[in-house]
Amino acid sequence: MRGRGFGPSVYAQASQNQHPHPGVDCRLSCQMTVAYPYRALVIDDDPLVHELFNSMLPVAAARNGASSGLAADHFAFQIDSAFQGEDGVNRARSASSEGRPYSLAFVDLRMPPGLDGMETISRLWNQFFDLQIVICTGNADYSWEEINRRFGHSDRLQILRKPFDVAQVRQIAYSLAEKWNLSHQAQGHLERLQRLVSERTAKLQKANLALQRKIFQNQQTERRLVTQMHAGRVLAEVPAVPEAIKSILQIVSENLGWDWAAFWRLEEEPRQLRFHSHWTRNDTQSAEFLEVCRQSNFESGADLPGRVWAEASPVWLQEFDPSFPRAAGASRQGFHSAVGFPIYLGSELFGVMEFASREILERDPDQLQTFAFIAGALGQLIERKRAEEERKLMEIQLRQAQKLESIGQLAAGIAHEINTPTQYIGDNIRFLQASFAELESAHHALYDLMVANKSGHASPSLIAGTEASLARTDLGFLLEEIPKAVAQTLEGVDRVAKIVRAMKDFSHPGTGEKVLVNLNHALDTTLTVARNEWKYVAKVETDFDPALPSLPCLPGELNQVLLNLIVNAAHAIADVVADDAERKGVITASTRSLGEWAEIRIKDTGRGIPEQIRHKIYDPFFTTKPVGKGTGQGLAIAHAVIVDQHGGTLSFETEMGVGTTFIIRLPFKPASGKPAKPKAARLLSYETSTFRRR
Ligand SMILES: Nc1ncnc2c1ncn2[C@@H]1O[C@H](COP(=O)(O)OP(=O)(O)OP(=O)(O)O)[C@@H](O)[C@H]1O
Ligand SMILES: [Mg+2]
Repeated sequence: MRGRGFGPSVYAQASQNQHPHPGVDCRLSCQMTVAYPYRALVIDDDPLVHELFNSMLPVAAARNGASSGLAADHFAFQIDSAFQGEDGVNRARSASSEGRPYSLAFVDLRMPPGLDGMETISRLWNQFFDLQIVICTGNADYSWEEINRRFGHSDRLQILRKPFDVAQVRQIAYSLAEKWNLSHQAQGHLERLQRLVSERTAKLQKANLALQRKIFQNQQTERRLVTQMHAGRVLAEVPAVPEAIKSILQIVSENLGWDWAAFWRLEEEPRQLRFHSHWTRNDTQSAEFLEVCRQSNFESGADLPGRVWAEASPVWLQEFDPSFPRAAGASRQGFHSAVGFPIYLGSELFGVMEFASREILERDPDQLQTFAFIAGALGQLIERKRAEEERKLMEIQLRQAQKLESIGQLAAGIAHEINTPTQYIGDNIRFLQASFAELESAHHALYDLMVANKSGHASPSLIAGTEASLARTDLGFLLEEIPKAVAQTLEGVDRVAKIVRAMKDFSHPGTGEKVLVNLNHALDTTLTVARNEWKYVAKVETDFDPALPSLPCLPGELNQVLLNLIVNAAHAIADVVADDAERKGVITASTRSLGEWAEIRIKDTGRGIPEQIRHKIYDPFFTTKPVGKGTGQGLAIAHAVIVDQHGGTLSFETEMGVGTTFIIRLPFKPASGKPAKPKAARLLSYETSTFRRR
């Protein structure tokens, strides 16, 4: 069997197929050292004994690498000799260091002049614990008890009494040598197992460590993602920048474990970073530091915020720098690590966000990434808000311009309305003035005649002159026309007064408070003010419920809505009647009470609202009118005012070719609380009249 041949090393490696002990796991036993032929050492001072052993035991036929080829060699012995105890111990040591240890030693008990057998055995076992020993002793030597006392009960020790029995010697030698082999195999097996176990344990520990690291990283990643998600949501939902900043300070600190957070805003004149807002885990504990921050302004390079400003990038400090102005305050807080990062708007620094911790935290590139995300998102939010503010400002300016335009148009219409009565008031007064002159001269003629008559001097020529004067005056005509002229004048004055009153009522200053409003009166007023808008295309019919109770409204806003609806009705009719001056449509304005609701209907005989745009007409800026005639805000504003501000409803009924009716319903008892502000898009210009010339 290959590997079991004799050689310089008697430790052959058993191959998998050639294992001498079936059932032993080869992965383990393949590495085990098994000694064939058996190695034995005879320690005896008597050379004859050595010869005897060589003759009693089968001695291996070849050495030093040459195999005898005999199967029996596997169970043969290589026998070395030592004649003194010390020599035996030395041989055993050198054989072991050469990697050819003895499995078995025959030791004589008496070996004068050197060590005796007992001492030799002691020394051998001190160094080679598993060496199997056979004591060769005569009767006169030590007793069994003595031997037992010296070495205790040992399975590695046999006693061979002299004179030797060959069979006994062989049997003892085989069994002890094989036992040594087996015990070595088992030892190797065990060591291999232990090695495997420790290798596996090390691997598992490594895997466990890697896993723990992974779990930690995952937790960190999760915390960062949660932070980013919350921050993202805040930035999307929070309407104002200061609120967003405060929420972010809190979210980052709570999720990433910082104890203090602050935002420093870059101020102009002087150009310094000024404390803006903060978050802290414990307000009372941080009160003093907060005060220090409130009183601090930092120029570029000063303290942590200033350093971030100067470096234009995040700064992470494991320890608060003692040269910082706030170092003492920070140290009293127990702050160690701190991080600051800049927030830019384009290339312009907007401010610096800082976080501090009572722990010492190593620079964390992942957290810095999160900060970069937050800084970017916050910068975008601020830019967006700025753009919105600018847009709002522009809208206010635009609204202002539109309002002026509307006022101009409204004023032109009203001027026209006032002009007509004013003209005939003037004509009538001029007629009265001329009539008065004629009446005055007739009066003078009659007076002169009366005085002459009283004194008896009424001459025929005077009477004839008076008659001629009265004939010129045409008294009959004057007496008939003057009362008419006065009545017309008064009517004209009433008309002007009504228009002026309507204007006054219509342009009710927006108080922001609801007051009791008579809807009939509001409709009447608005119709009057808008007369110039509809009178060329329509006549107006009213059907007011005289018993309709007043109800709480915002009068300015409500009038605006009514005006928008009336103008829309006039426009819709204008499209139908076109330029046919003879054909007019009808606008019917009606009111009625419906239990808890007051209802206003504004009905027109216009073209109707086409099916495909019905769902869009309340959208801000939706219009089908040409530029300059409509901006698409009228109904959006009307909806905002009626629904949002008054808790009412706004709906319409329409039929193509027949007309449209807009229906407003307002609660007599609106829900308590301040009226809601109309939503931004609809707020834009509801005081801007959609008042347009045809
Ligand atoms: N009575 C109506 N009859 C037919 N269509 C109407 C009527 N009222 C509104 N509309 C349609 O709804 C659209 C939106 O009306 P809205 O009052 O919001 O804006 P606009 O009248 O176009 O412009 P603005 O009122 O800002 O001057 C109109 O352009 C028109 O197409
Ligand atoms: Mg309109």
